[in-house]
Amino acid sequence: MKTIQISIRFLLVLALLAASVLRPATAQECGIASAHALATKAGCEILGAGGNAFDAAVAVAAALAVVEPFASGIGGGGFLLLHRASDHYEVFVDARETAPSGATREFFVDENGKAKQKASLEGPTAAGIPGEPAALDWVARRYGKLPLARSLAPAIRLAEQGFPADARYASASALRADALNSNADAAVSFLDGGKPAAVGFIVVQPQLARTLHMLAEQGGASFYHGAFASKLAQTVKSAGGLWELSDLENYHVIERPPVKFTYRGATITTAPLPSSGGLVLAQSLFILESVEMAGLSATDRAHYAVEAMRRGYHDRARYMGDPDFFAVPAAKLASREYARRRGASIDPARATPSSDLAQGAGAAVEGRDTTHFSIIDGQGNRVAATLSVNGPFGSGYVAGDTGVLLNNHMDDFVLVPGVPNLYKLVGSEANAVAPGKRPLSSMSPTFVEDGRGVLVLGTPGGSRIISMVLEGILDYVDQPQTDLARLVAAPRFHHQYLPDRIEIEPGAFSEPWIEGLKAKGHVVEAGRRKWGNMQAVFLDKKTGRVITASDPRGQSGVLF
Ligand code: DON
Repeated sequence: MKTIQISIRFLLVLALLAASVLRPATAQECGIASAHALATKAGCEILGAGGNAFDAAVAVAAALAVVEPFASGIGGGGFLLLHRASDHYEVFVDARETAPSGATREFFVDENGKAKQKASLEGPTAAGIPGEPAALDWVARRYGKLPLARSLAPAIRLAEQGFPADARYASASALRADALNSNADAAVSFLDGGKPAAVGFIVVQPQLARTLHMLAEQGGASFYHGAFASKLAQTVKSAGGLWELSDLENYHVIERPPVKFTYRGATITTAPLPSSGGLVLAQSLFILESVEMAGLSATDRAHYAVEAMRRGYHDRARYMGDPDFFAVPAAKLASREYARRRGASIDPARATPSSDLAQGAGAAVEGRDTTHFSIIDGQGNRVAATLSVNGPFGSGYVAGDTGVLLNNHMDDFVLVPGVPNLYKLVGSEANAVAPGKRPLSSMSPTFVEDGRGVLVLGTPGGSRIISMVLEGILDYVDQPQTDLARLVAAPRFHHQYLPDRIEIEPGAFSEPWIEGLKAKGHVVEAGRRKWGNMQAVFLDKKTGRVITASDPRGQSGVLF
C-alpha cells in the first residue's frame, strides 16, 4: 500500500512537472517569445510587476541589448509593431538609425567609383545614429503603465552582475574577435582578455550599466542631448566617425501606419517603409493568393513561392528606400491589381530568369544577427519587435566609456547602384546614402489574425527575414492545423531576385523536391548553414490561451 501511495505521489509530482514544462502559457501568464531566456525572464518580471506588453517590450529589448550585444542594442535601432487592445490602435514605431550629416554618398565611394564597403561595415564610419534609446523611452511613456526606470531595471542588473556567455555569444565573439580587438573599449566589454569568450564566461558590462542607469533616471533624451550626447558625438568623431551633436539632437522615432492587407481571409499587419518587408510580403502573398494551391505538389508550391518572392524582391531593389527621401510608389506596390499583373508572367513549368525581369548581378547571402521578440499580454496587447545592430557586434566599435556598441547599418544603404551589400542585396537610387536618411531594411515584425486566433511573429536573418516571415504566414494560413513548433522550425528556402538562385538550408529538403525545382530551370544551392531565429506567440481565440514558440535553431546555439 505504502509503495503504491509513494508511486502515486511520485507520478503526481512528475505530472505536475511535465505540466509546468508543456502547458502553454495562458494570457494571464507570460506570452513572450524572445531569443534569450534572460530577456524573456526580464519581460515576464515586468508583466508580473503590473506592466503591460509595452512595458515588457521595453524590458525585453533592454535585456537583449545586454545579453545579445552581437544582435541588437542601444547603439542600434529597429522597429516595434504595437497593437493596443483597448481601442485596437495599431502603430509601427520606426526607430531605424539615420545617416549622420557627414555621410554623403561620395564618402562611401572611392576615386574609381568603387563602393568602400569596409567604411560601411567596420568602425565608427559604419554607424548610423541609434534609434533604440529613443524607442525605449517612447514606448514606455506613450504606451506603458510603468516608469521607464522600472522596465529597465532587469537589464541594468544583467549588465552590472553579468551573465554567462552561451554558445551563440561564444561563436559571435570568435567571429568578430579581430574587429572587437581593434578598439580597447570593445575588447574590454565583450572579450575575455582579448580572446573570444568561451561558453560560461561571465560578461559584465559596468559601462553599459551606467548608460542604462542614465536612461532610467533621465529618460531617452539624455542620450541625444546635453553632456552625454556631446561626449558621444565627440568620441565618435575623433575616432574618424561622421557624427555631429546635431545628428543626435535631431534624431526622433517616427510613428507610421503599418502595412495592412488580407491573405486568404487572414489579416496581415506588418512593416511599412523604411522596411521593405510589408511591400514585398503584400506583393508576394497577393500573387500566391491567385494560385490554386490545393492539389499542387510540394515542388510546385515552392516554385510559385519562389516566383512570387523573385518579383517582390525585384521591386525592393528597384523602387524601395526611405519614403521621406524618395517617392516610392507604395500604393501601387501594395495593390492586388499590380500583383496580378506581376504574377501573370509566372510560367507554371519554368523559372523566370531574374535577368528577364531586369539586369543585374550578385552572389551568396549570409544573414547573421539581429533579434526578434513577440509578446501578447493578458489584456491582448501585442508587440512584435525586430531590433538590430546589423552584422554580428555591428561595427565592432564601442564609443569610449559609454559601453555603447555602435551598429553598422550604413551598409544597408546602396553605396553604388547594382553593387550588392552584406546580404547581397542590390538596390537603386531610392536607397542611396543621404544625411538624415534611414537605410532600407528587411526587418518585418508581423501580426496575422483570423477566426482561429492571433499570431505575432518575426525573425532576424538579413534579406532572408522576409522570405521566412512569408513562409511562416503560409504555414499558418494554408495549413489546416496551427502548429507553432512546426511553424518556427520549418525548413527555409529563399529567393531574393539577385542572386538568381534558390538558397536552401543544408540537409533540409528531399532530393525529389530539389530535382523538381531544378527541372523547372531553377538553380538550387544549399547555404553554408541554417538560418533564422523566429519567435512566435499565438493567442487561440477559442480557448483564450497563449502559446509561445522559439526557433530551435536559435536554441541550438549553432547560428545567429
Ligand atoms: O535591417 C535589416 O534588414 C538588416 N540590417 C537586418 C540584419 C539581420 O537581420 C542580420 N541577421 N541575422
